[in-house]
Amino acid sequence: MLSRIDHVGFAVRSLAQAIDLYRDVWKLPLEHRETLEEHGVEEAMFRVGDSYVQLLGSLSPTTPVGRFLERRGEGLHHIAYEVADIEAALADLAASGVEIIDAKPRTGSRNTRVAFVNPNSTLGVLVELVEHPRPGSFPGARDLST
Ligand code: CO
Repeated sequence: MLSRIDHVGFAVRSLAQAIDLYRDVWKLPLEHRETLEEHGVEEAMFRVGDSYVQLLGSLSPTTPVGRFLERRGEGLHHIAYEVADIEAALADLAASGVEIIDAKPRTGSRNTRVAFVNPNSTLGVLVELVEHPRPGSFPGARDLST
C-alpha cells in the first residue's frame, strides 16, 4: 500500500526562522512553498534524497497545527506516506478497523490528494497518506533557487 515516505512534517513557530535553519545549517534546497487556507498552514518543503522535510507554520492559534504548537510545542507533527490510490488505501485501512480522520481525500499541497489517519490507530503517530497526480512526481514544485 505504501510506496515511499513522501515527507516528514514538523510544526514550527516561525516558518521564516525554520527555513533559515534548514537552508543555512542543514544546507537543504528549498523546493516548494505554499499556503493552504483549508488546512490552516503555511508550508515549506525541503528535499532530502527522495523525500521531503515539510515545515509547517500555523495561520492562526485555532488551526490544528496552532493547537498542536500550543499543546506540545515545536516538533515532529506527522509522517506522510505516498500511496498510488488513496481511495483504495482508505478502504483497506477502514476494513482493518483503522480510524480515519478524513473519510474523503482533501486537496493537499503540490496538487496532491491527502487524508489523515487517527494517531490512536497508529501507535501515537499522526499519519498522512499522499497521492500524487502521477506516482513519484512532484508537479507542484517551483524552483525557488533563482
Ligand atoms: Co504533510
